[in-house]
Amino acid sequence: MKYDVKMLTLDEKLKLLTGVDYWRTYSADGKIGEVVMSDGPCGLRKVRDGKTEASACMPSPSVVANSWSKEAAFLDGKTIADECVEKDVDVILAPGTNIKRTPLCGRNFEYLSEDPYLAGVLAREFINGAQSKGVGTSLKHYCCNNREFERFNQNSEVDERTLREIYLPAFEEAVKAEPWTVMCSYNLINGIYASENKYLIDDVLRGEFGFNGVVVSDWGAVHNQFRRVRAGLDLEMPYSDGAYNDLKDAYERGYITEEQIDRSVKRILELIEKKESAVKSVEYSAEERHANAVAIAKEGIVLLKNDDDILPLKGGKILVSGEYARAPQICGGGSARNTTAYVQTGLDKLISEKLGAEAEVSYLFSRTRTQGISDSLNKTYVAAYDSDTVVICVGNDYTVESEDFDRQGIRLSKTAEDFILNTAAINKNVVVVLYAGSAIDVSEWVESVKAVVFAGFAGEGVNEALSSVLTGETVPSGKLSESFPTGIEETYTGLEHGNGFAERYSDGIFVGYRYYEHLRLPVEFPFGHGLSYAKFTYSDLKIKKTGETEYEVSYNVTNESDFAAKEVSQVYVKDVFSSVLRPKKELKGFSKDEIGAHETKNITVKLDYRSFAYYNVSLKKWYVENGAFEVLVGASSADIRLSERITVELAEDTQYSTGY
Ligand code: BGC
Repeated sequence: MKYDVKMLTLDEKLKLLTGVDYWRTYSADGKIGEVVMSDGPCGLRKVRDGKTEASACMPSPSVVANSWSKEAAFLDGKTIADECVEKDVDVILAPGTNIKRTPLCGRNFEYLSEDPYLAGVLAREFINGAQSKGVGTSLKHYCCNNREFERFNQNSEVDERTLREIYLPAFEEAVKAEPWTVMCSYNLINGIYASENKYLIDDVLRGEFGFNGVVVSDWGAVHNQFRRVRAGLDLEMPYSDGAYNDLKDAYERGYITEEQIDRSVKRILELIEKKESAVKSVEYSAEERHANAVAIAKEGIVLLKNDDDILPLKGGKILVSGEYARAPQICGGGSARNTTAYVQTGLDKLISEKLGAEAEVSYLFSRTRTQGISDSLNKTYVAAYDSDTVVICVGNDYTVESEDFDRQGIRLSKTAEDFILNTAAINKNVVVVLYAGSAIDVSEWVESVKAVVFAGFAGEGVNEALSSVLTGETVPSGKLSESFPTGIEETYTGLEHGNGFAERYSDGIFVGYRYYEHLRLPVEFPFGHGLSYAKFTYSDLKIKKTGETEYEVSYNVTNESDFAAKEVSQVYVKDVFSSVLRPKKELKGFSKDEIGAHETKNITVKLDYRSFAYYNVSLKKWYVENGAFEVLVGASSADIRLSERITVELAEDTQYSTGY
């Protein structure tokens, strides 16, 4: 090791435990190096001398998750890190992998999924991608920060099994990629702040998940210096005035020992060494980063509905309307919001370019974000009447979906809904494009329109990606990483958010599709749903046992169409009989594959112990109960195409007696 704790005086060590300003660590007057951190998950937000520098706005993590593509997540991390290298940033404050417990959470656009398996795998790949560039990551926000309301004070009251099965696994999986840092969240978990939570930091994250990097506080999440050091939180960010005095005082009173201080100092020194020994090079030009943003957005756009195969657009008179067509919402608000220098070309122009002489594409500005009828809407109705197809671009902006507050509801503005309904009343070929960071309640108008495309907050490449998907140059392949409920009232939490200080996670393990399936509630668009212009059939499910609880699940997916396309196939596991209450099924594997026209691809997905286990609170460990399990392979959580029953038989002495 180049640096040793012995190189520093006690005072220097105490100072090292807190940042020196908003983004940098303390360098002890140049004795040691410093680490520069910056946000965030949608692209670099580098602040220099109080000014935010422009950088590539990548698709939001929610769009990356809708791609269900490990390669896309890797490329996303790599592209953002590449810009970090160029702009002298050592650690990117991403990815965020909190579970989407409610679609109201203002930061859902920054997070990956309602499903811990999908969220974990994609966070892991983002980290692998970023760190392949020699740039560290900060896996955040650990943990149970599942909404923004009262995020600094709110106590998430979560039972152990729920914690283990829903809220921790994404972190557990992502930690396998060895992120340089993990960021604790603001909230309390079961009465103890995340920043002081020894159980979650030292025992679980380090002890059980094997994390050996630096645990950093979310910005301003430290409430007490000695409690956080004792808990294993190494680095407080940003600089805070009283931190050094409080730490010194705590040391002198014997509340913390030098050994405890050294533990954290050593980890911060290791982080500095990692940064210094990293091999870094800028690989992409601004144009190439933009091209990566477009490529990822193409993978993440989801075709939700496509009656009469109205899409891809076939030509004729096409009216594109809604202000987002020209000024798309590419990112949500808060610390993840980055500014890009990229100047958008209107969606209408790009569609026109791609369709050429076959189409006459026009655009009319129509304001749909605010309430009230504007003159421009009426003009649009007149034009819509005279068009073959109308593409309506509507959704939320960064003032609606942002860090620091939650959404008030999940419907579009009344103006937007009325606009869709009125247009659909005069033109039967309406295509709605949605821009949002999380689920939208489409129930008011979805039956009236032919097609719905969920763009999400797809970054600066959104119009290129959308025009490509809408015209059929790209076959859509995104699938929902969160369920779209029929209304906010149909979600477990509805419009409630605890009592202001505490929120009991009484939905337990029934989050997202696990909840709707458990209660047999219909949803508008299920988890894993996404249409294609191609048609895929599934066949020949074979399950090969390769170990005690290891299986290879293989199946064929055939592309029945005349063109190549990608399909996300999903593998769920259902415990047929269980001594504890379990979800109807859980995602345990998936694969995204490009399949040529009329070709068949044989796909293999591996299952292991954890695919069958539940967290047994009495045993304090994951436990597989012998018996029948169903392996379900499908195109979405609600579209299971193949299934087979297997029997897991572990040695008798590993099992407990059951009542069935
Ligand atoms: C956010 C973090 C972010 C940090 C630095 C906090 O308010 O919760 O996600 O990385 O600020 O901007």
